[in-house]
Amino acid sequence: MDTIYDIIKIATNNHKISKQNIINMLSFPIPTDPLTFPLFVTADKTREKHVGNKVHLRALIEFTNHCKQNCLYCGLRRDNKNIIRYRMTPEEIIDHALNTFKGGFETIVLQGGEDPFYNTETLCKIIQSIRTIFPSEINHAITLSIGELSTVAYKKLREAGVNRFLLRIETTNRLLYEKLSPCMDFDNRIRCLKDLKTYKYEVGTGNLIGLPEQTIESIAEDILFFNEINSDMVGIGPFITNPDTPLKDHPSGDFWLVMKVLAITRLLLPNANIPATTSMETKHKNGRMIALQCGANVAMPNVTNPIYKENYKLYPKEHEANSFECIKTMLEKMGRVGM
Ligand code: 5AD
Ligand code: SF4
Repeated sequence: MDTIYDIIKIATNNHKISKQNIINMLSFPIPTDPLTFPLFVTADKTREKHVGNKVHLRALIEFTNHCKQNCLYCGLRRDNKNIIRYRMTPEEIIDHALNTFKGGFETIVLQGGEDPFYNTETLCKIIQSIRTIFPSEINHAITLSIGELSTVAYKKLREAGVNRFLLRIETTNRLLYEKLSPCMDFDNRIRCLKDLKTYKYEVGTGNLIGLPEQTIESIAEDILFFNEINSDMVGIGPFITNPDTPLKDHPSGDFWLVMKVLAITRLLLPNANIPATTSMETKHKNGRMIALQCGANVAMPNVTNPIYKENYKLYPKEHEANSFECIKTMLEKMGRVGM
């Protein structure tokens, strides 16, 4: 068997790792001082070499917590009666987006459940209104994270001025995917990702670590999938147990396994944008700071109005520190610059 140093050397030079070597790497024990783990050290260097020391800030606006889907792990699932549902009006969304850009952010992420209230026409009008003040040619990116849509909808939204789209594959194991997301179809998810590529969005995908029945082999296949579709952004996060869902008795994912997945993804996709996510912080008190030392280069301050934010509960929010101020303080401590 190759040593971890052999695998890392090949991966760093060629940005390729075999499935077996990914599995091996995911299985190597982490030392007591985790940040000395060679995989993390190399991923951090690769990040610095290819995408630099700047941490890209993406302002997250959670505009609706309604969802027609019923994913077993997620608090926004339609059968969850324990959350107060809200929707921002199109005018509110436009105002909030404009204020966020005016406040200095260059990227906004409009995120929500799959909510049919906002049809393609409404969404396009929202985007066009934002674009009349902040046109596409100038450096202001609009990202959507609103799930599966029709081919026509993706096309029209791109034409209206959306640049990026986040749609995690969640798991590449088809059976597991369809079990965890009843009524959803794996092939349709792949179709969505292909459409997004066709219409020249910057595409973000990603997965959840620690899902029931998920194996290390299946996680290795997820990583190869990110590479195969040449994902521009990769959001990797631990599954967090949500007491209001059918997976309430399934333990949350392992933090260091998430870091390994992140670091390997950085070696394979040296130029990708990889966020340090809030869910990481839920599993470790310095979760995001560590992620930024294991290959991540993006942070997502949550700028949602607090009256809505508390109800956007994908998973329980314990010690959330994802305000712009918290992130700024963290980056200053690390000597990294947010932009
Ligand atoms: N734990 C962690 N992440 C979750 N998501 C949904 N539910 C959970 C959970 N319980 C993630 C999914 C989805 C994103 C918006 O939130 O990966 O793509
Ligand atoms: Fe809806 Fe997304 Fe949650 Fe599934 S993961 S229930 S699609 S918000």
